[in-house]
Amino acid sequence: MACKPVLPLLTLAAVHIAGLLPPVTFATSPHGFRATLTRVHRYPFNYSAAARRDGRRLASLSNAAAGGAHTSTSSSRGLLQALVENGAGAYHMTLSIGTPPLAFPAILDTGSDLTWAQCAPCTACFAQPTPLYDPAASSTFSSLPCASPLCQALPGAFRACNATGCVYDYRYTVGFTAGYVAADTLAVGDASLPGVAFGCSTANGGDMDGASGIVGLGRGALSLVSQLGVGRFSYCLRSDADAGASPILFGSLANATAGDRVQSTPLIQNPVARRAPYYYVNLTGITVGATDLPVTSGTFGFTATGAGGVIVDSGTTFTYLAEAGYAMVRQAFVAQTAGLSTVNGAPYDFDLCFAAGAAVVGDVPVPRLVLRFAGGAEYAVPRRIYFDAVDERGSVACLLVLPTRGVSVIGNMMQMDLHVLYDLDGGTFAFAPADCANL
Ligand SMILES: *[C@@H]1O[C@H](CO)[C@@H](O)[C@H](O)[C@H]1NC(C)=O
Ligand SMILES: *[C@@H]1O[C@H](CO)[C@@H](O)[C@H](O)[C@H]1NC(C)=O
Ligand SMILES: *[C@@H]1O[C@H](CO)[C@@H](O)[C@H](O)[C@H]1NC(C)=O
Ligand SMILES: *[C@@H]1O[C@H](CO)[C@@H](O)[C@H](O)[C@H]1NC(C)=O
Repeated sequence: MACKPVLPLLTLAAVHIAGLLPPVTFATSPHGFRATLTRVHRYPFNYSAAARRDGRRLASLSNAAAGGAHTSTSSSRGLLQALVENGAGAYHMTLSIGTPPLAFPAILDTGSDLTWAQCAPCTACFAQPTPLYDPAASSTFSSLPCASPLCQALPGAFRACNATGCVYDYRYTVGFTAGYVAADTLAVGDASLPGVAFGCSTANGGDMDGASGIVGLGRGALSLVSQLGVGRFSYCLRSDADAGASPILFGSLANATAGDRVQSTPLIQNPVARRAPYYYVNLTGITVGATDLPVTSGTFGFTATGAGGVIVDSGTTFTYLAEAGYAMVRQAFVAQTAGLSTVNGAPYDFDLCFAAGAAVVGDVPVPRLVLRFAGGAEYAVPRRIYFDAVDERGSVACLLVLPTRGVSVIGNMMQMDLHVLYDLDGGTFAFAPADCANL
């Protein structure tokens, strides 16, 4: 598994110094721009497979956050690891790169910062659906000097500086990625964005779910939204079975803050891992049926080492709660479903499952689930989002909320049919029920 990034052969004319490029401007709209997201797997997808992939992503998300307290090494490992583990409910966004532009599908990731694509010449690349981006064929490509702040924004443990430039080389649980940081024009939807720093991966292994790269929308300096300074972005994920395209809006177009159905809560920071790319929110209460659970600031709060906390994540499918909080939900759920018989959830990769019997799963009465956030935001979760049949015959239905030992994660199913806004400038996370097809 040799993985040596290879210096592409560049014509001198193609080499610019990215640090000297003018600031990014929006070629087509001074206010904002929009693009579309496509769900990788049809919904409802294979729930067990999704839960397994979630498990791997959760491990990386937790390592990255909690590791920040100990050594920069474990933190850095986790930060890139999260780039490549996505639940089966992942979304693709189409980006174009270079001049002339080459379009490719990238996995949308709010849990990481670096946007990357596979680049030619590739020493080891996974099969991708589109032609490889070739820096030598793009007239707007430039290398990124090691002294660039964006190179320095890469976690130190896997960054190196040598004659190739700003290189990264990382191995993760089920694969590896290595390459160098460069800059080129990216086109997203109707916007053309010159001089965006991204990772040119020349050696990769692993399963990318039909994507050719990742688009990083985290909170760190390297992320696409931070580099562009758009201030905010929003999306609305469609739950309909046909999985039509879902809108994602950047800048002034991301205006989910108007209207009386909008709920909003502060985005908070991990007090230990301040450079974590994650969007942390403050989950202050949960109601299951008639029961308000005794959630305290310790239930989902940060520990002294930066573990814990609750994030909103695009790449995790289901929702995962820290064990103490999950135990309360489970107990309240069981207490209010006395008429149903529980079955072992392990074979389905879930925890709390019920025999749905002859009844149509949708008809089994289950308690409502309401999440409450600091600042008064409330989310009454639609039933099919937290309780559904997980086998093909529809005979076993499970609670689609699971326990975790690390950071708690609100996954993308819980974000469906909502206009969800990440307001970086305002420091808030907002959401409102919406018809995503008509945004
Ligand atoms: C730079 O470092 C990377 C990673 O260690 C290595 O693969 C690459 O060959 C190096 N480039 C040069 C020109 O030494
Ligand atoms: C769902 O995924 C699991 C685990 O990968 C697999 O064992 C099972 O066969 C899949 N089910 C279907 C219906 O594809
Ligand atoms: C959001 O922006 C769009 C496009 O500028 C506009 O048509 C729409 O009325 C705005 N919505 C609200 C609620 O401000
Ligand atoms: C979350 O909100 C509660 C109630 O407003 C507050 O007591 C607590 O300190 C907040 N936690 C964090 C981590 O901000």
